[in-house]
Amino acid sequence: MTPALSELVDRARSLFAERFGSQARWVAAAPGRVNLIGEHTDYNDGFVLPMAIDRHVVIAAAPREAGGDAGCGPGMRLWSEMTGETATIDPQGPLPSGLARWAHYPYGVLELLRQRGVAMGATDAVLLSTVPLGSGLSSSAALEVATATLAEAAAGAELGVADKARLCQQAENEFAGVPCGVMDQFASAGCKEGSLLRLDCRSFETTDVAMADPNVAVLIVNSGVSHNLGDSEYPKRRSACEAAATALGVDALRDATADMIESSDKLDDLARRRARHVVTENQRVLDFCDAIESGRWREAGELMVASHESLRDDYEVSCPEVDTLVECLLAIGADGGVHGARITGGGFGGCVVSLIDRAKADSIIASATQAYQKRTGIDAAAFVTPPCAGAA
Ligand code: ADP
Ligand code: GAL
Repeated sequence: MTPALSELVDRARSLFAERFGSQARWVAAAPGRVNLIGEHTDYNDGFVLPMAIDRHVVIAAAPREAGGDAGCGPGMRLWSEMTGETATIDPQGPLPSGLARWAHYPYGVLELLRQRGVAMGATDAVLLSTVPLGSGLSSSAALEVATATLAEAAAGAELGVADKARLCQQAENEFAGVPCGVMDQFASAGCKEGSLLRLDCRSFETTDVAMADPNVAVLIVNSGVSHNLGDSEYPKRRSACEAAATALGVDALRDATADMIESSDKLDDLARRRARHVVTENQRVLDFCDAIESGRWREAGELMVASHESLRDDYEVSCPEVDTLVECLLAIGADGGVHGARITGGGFGGCVVSLIDRAKADSIIASATQAYQKRTGIDAAAFVTPPCAGAA
């Protein structure tokens, strides 16, 4: 059983006390996220609809006494339970050579904060997480946002949600070398309990979209595969979108219409399909919000399926295992309690998100994971999650 956030916080406090022999002064927690719809739209100035999940990164920390531990120097001495390693994060410019890869994320956040005059001072810290790594549930964004939230507390500074999300995105872009959009960090920083977050990635305007029907739940199933292909294909998709926007004479694909894309003689077949995904996906986000606000679950489910097909066929960021998992869920059908299912996150593996009847969750999980096991030989982990609150 994955521990609840309160247990995770307690465990972070006791691990801190064990390792450092004193009490933690601050505990920061930031959730992972799942995106219901609106995939590969964030870096096209479009719309997304993520929610925070009940899987978190937690950091417990306290100031380090001067001279208390010779040889540690300044900065944050951060121990990760997951890697079993301690990294000393002393932001003072470009990444120092030899810093463990996982520590690039907190380093980037603290360095960008330092450049703005927000300094955390010498601290000891422990890092715990229940967000699975590299499964499209944004463990890295949760790590960045938890670090920024800790720094806010320690430095007595307060960043707004949009500011914090953009700083964390910049940390990932510049210090981890991942050209991600802003959705994950925004969701981890700004989601509200009980709601999906509709984000306009151009204006940063947000709307909390309530998941008010107690009979409907969000199910996440991990395909158990992660293809490294994502590392090289994601930047290619971004460039293809930028090139298509330029060819169409618009600032971003957000400004293109379906007519422009279908009738343009400036796009080849591949560019047309990439652009078509983005433009149709933006509209699906808006339609999905309308559908769930009035409880039209069948329609919401159909939009998820259309999103999956578009990501599979036009945007080409799915993979055979994930397609199989979506098929296993959809085969259960609306009568069996499955309204819709689709790939979520950057793609090339990772998780599938599904809208289901809450009362049928156990039988849906059993039947989908068995069918998936039979077809692929992979045991898939699955869990139902409520829409949780963002970082605190
Ligand atoms: P995702 O964000 O979809 O989970 P990424 O590959 O973008 O996947 O980020 C995962 C990386 O984030 C890990 O490989 C690791 O470097 C870092 N990370 C996340 N959580 C932790 C943790 N608790 N301890 C150490 N590193 C972590
Ligand atoms: C994620 C990325 C997000 C978003 C998503 C696809 O991996 O971090 O910014 O682009 O892929 O919707």
